[in-house]
Amino acid sequence: MTHMYDILYVPPSGTTQYCQHTWIAHINQVCTGHIHMQVEARQKIKFLDAWVHEDYRRQGIYRKLWEARWDFIHKDEEYKGYKVYAWCKPMSLPLLLENGFERGEECVYVEKEIMKPKPTGEQCFVSC
Ligand SMILES: CC(C)(COP(=O)(O)OP(=O)(O)OC[C@H]1O[C@@H](n2cnc3c(N)ncnc32)[C@H](O)[C@@H]1OP(=O)(O)O)[C@@H](O)C(=O)NCCC(=O)NCCS
Repeated sequence: MTHMYDILYVPPSGTTQYCQHTWIAHINQVCTGHIHMQVEARQKIKFLDAWVHEDYRRQGIYRKLWEARWDFIHKDEEYKGYKVYAWCKPMSLPLLLENGFERGEECVYVEKEIMKPKPTGEQCFVSC
């Protein structure tokens, strides 16, 4: 079943160090998906943080949000000559490739828990 939704555009607030534009898909004022872009120095634009609510996936919401953002950066000459880039996951990559983006190097997520530092001999409290 495909749901009816609207798309809301949120311009940058001008109160943060970054300049972020946001598009939000919503049904009855509940967010069902969003995408963003940040305008960076040296005429660069970063596409980021695509997300669609699990109950509404594979209905074309991401594609519609993507098109709204794509239309926005092309609607006048403001961003002509800028370079657009994104870090993608396997699910978001196909749409970018479909739109002519070139595939760069792969990136692997890693993590590690920060442990308490081991006490050195001099700092170790001995109670015997
Ligand atoms: C990735 C995500 C935003 C896609 O949202 P969606 O609304 O379901 O996507 P759409 O229905 O608009 O699909 C658009 C295209 O994306 C790709 N795609 C979407 N879901 C996919 C999946 N599960 N597997 C492979 N490709 C997928 C397809 O190319 C699809 O085009 P098609 O329908 O013609 O095949 C959504 O799955 C999500 O929020 N995932 C978790 C967050 C995440 O990984 N975000 C990416 C951050 S980089």
